[in-house]
Amino acid sequence: MKLSVSARALAAGAVAAALLLTGGSLAGAAPAPAPSAAAAPDIPLSGVKAHLTQLQSIATANGGNRAHGRPGYKASLDYVKAKLDAAGYTTAIQQFTASGRTGYNLIADWPGGDTNQVLMAGSHLDSVSSGAGINDNGSGSAAVLETALAVSRAGYQPTKHLRFAWWGAEELGLVGSRYYVNNLSAANRAKIRGYLNFDMIGSPNPGYFVYDDDPAIEKTFKDYYAGLGVPTEIETEGDGRSDHAPFKSAGVPVGGLFTGASRTKTAAQVAKWGGTSGQAFDRCYHSSCDTTSNINDTALDRNSDAIAYAVWGLSA
Ligand code: TRP
Ligand code: CA
Ligand code: ZN
Repeated sequence: MKLSVSARALAAGAVAAALLLTGGSLAGAAPAPAPSAAAAPDIPLSGVKAHLTQLQSIATANGGNRAHGRPGYKASLDYVKAKLDAAGYTTAIQQFTASGRTGYNLIADWPGGDTNQVLMAGSHLDSVSSGAGINDNGSGSAAVLETALAVSRAGYQPTKHLRFAWWGAEELGLVGSRYYVNNLSAANRAKIRGYLNFDMIGSPNPGYFVYDDDPAIEKTFKDYYAGLGVPTEIETEGDGRSDHAPFKSAGVPVGGLFTGASRTKTAAQVAKWGGTSGQAFDRCYHSSCDTTSNINDTALDRNSDAIAYAVWGLSA
């Protein structure tokens, strides 16, 4: 059409004018931006939820749970490990004993980066014996897995070395993560620049809680949420009740996200986040109704993207 031809002519004229104004050459045009750290990808909610569907199937096929010492735990570990192996991770299973049964941590290293500066992200993969543990803690496990797979898809080569972990026997008292930390040499412990923990990040009546441990890690998560325009609060529901605690005790900077467990959402929290006041963040906490129905998709999506934002930003 005539209109589009003239629009093109105008656009061409604008380019010519810009070239004149900048000295007539493309090389002299607007300076190229300095190379900056790669932007974190959007983590697909569909990928995270596909992992939750698999963890639910594993529980259903194994007596309804994925608890320490039960077959559903090992099947969960094998599922996560196979995905990571296929994506190019170097994986290792660390065995320990708790309550007379064998437990397992899964550690996955992304080849590359400065191994003297390690950024870790992890979550507990075990459930309680009363249910499938889809919010607690399929949610964190699936989101960390999908973030690790996104690192592989992007061919991300950060400055720091990335290590992902799935802990066993958290529900018995942080047993797997404590075993890992206790078995690190002092030198290897000192190389860990940060540990990011994700335990219950898709609660059905969610709050947006950020751990207030290491200030730089806390700021990273707050910046992400500020960008979304979603207010956050400091995590206080049982400080130290998850796998970041052994790292923090050993002097490693820690941080993480949480959407709430058995505490009740207040009217003030509903005013900022929506949901139901006077009701628990997760009414199915540690119970048989912690299934794939026990997930708020918006919270899971935001927190998954926040994990990628922090993993990218803190490892650059
Ligand atoms: N870790 C607890 C569990 O798995 C849940 C929990 C309670 C929690 N308070 C927390 C997790 C604070 C993270 C932060 O049962
Ligand atoms: Ca997303
Ligand atoms: Zn739990």
